[in-house]
Amino acid sequence: MKSGRPSLPEREGNARELIEPGAVLLRGFAQREAATLMAEIAGIAIAAPFRNMVTPGGFPMSVAMTNCGHFGWITDRSGYRYSSADPDGRPWPAMPARFRGLAACAAAAAGFADFDPDSCLINRYIPGARMSLHQDKDEADFAAPIVSVSLGLPATFLWGGAKRSDRPRRVPLESGDIVVWGGPARLNFHGVEPVANGDVACRYNLTLRKAK
Ligand code: SIN
Ligand code: FE2
Repeated sequence: MKSGRPSLPEREGNARELIEPGAVLLRGFAQREAATLMAEIAGIAIAAPFRNMVTPGGFPMSVAMTNCGHFGWITDRSGYRYSSADPDGRPWPAMPARFRGLAACAAAAAGFADFDPDSCLINRYIPGARMSLHQDKDEADFAAPIVSVSLGLPATFLWGGAKRSDRPRRVPLESGDIVVWGGPARLNFHGVEPVANGDVACRYNLTLRKAK
C-alpha cells in the first residue's frame, strides 16, 4: 500500500473475499460506523430529499435516491447522468469527510490506492425495492474503482459478468459490508434482489465514485 493512507489491519471484520479479479468483498468493514453513517444520511436527506426518480423510459425506480459530493447521479426522461445540482437546482450537500475516508480506506484494502471520490449516490431500499442488472458507466473514466457500502437491512447482491446475459452470482450482504470493484471488473453488470422485510425499516447503500 502507498503511504499517506490510514492503515487497515485494526478494522473489525477485515476479511477480504475475492469475488473475482478486481472485485472484493470486505465483510463488516463499516460495521462499527454503521449507525454514524446512517445518521449522516438522515442529515443529508433533510437538505436533499430522497426521490424515486424516473428512468429514461419513464418508469419510477423502486429505489429512492439522493446524493452528496460535488456531483450526484440522476435520471429522468433525458437520461442517466451526473449533475452538480439536485433536480430542484440546488447544489448537493457536501460529502462528509467520514464517507471519503471510509471509501479511500476500503479501496486501499481492496488494492486500489489513492481513491478520491467526488460523488456519493445514496440509495434507499424499502422492502420489495430492487435494482436490476446494470453497469456503472456514466463516469468520465473507468480508472477509479467503485466503493459500495451496505447499511441497514440485508440484501442479496447480484454480481454478473461483462455481458448482461452472464449468469450473476448471488452475494449476501449485511449492514457494514463493503464491495469494491475496479480494474478488470470495473464494468461488470450488477444489481440487487428485492429486499426482504426485517428488523429495521430499510436498506441504504452508499455508492462512492469518481464521476469527473
Ligand atoms: C447499485 O449498483 O447502484 C446499487 C448497489 C447496491 O445497492 O448494493
Ligand atoms: Fe451500480
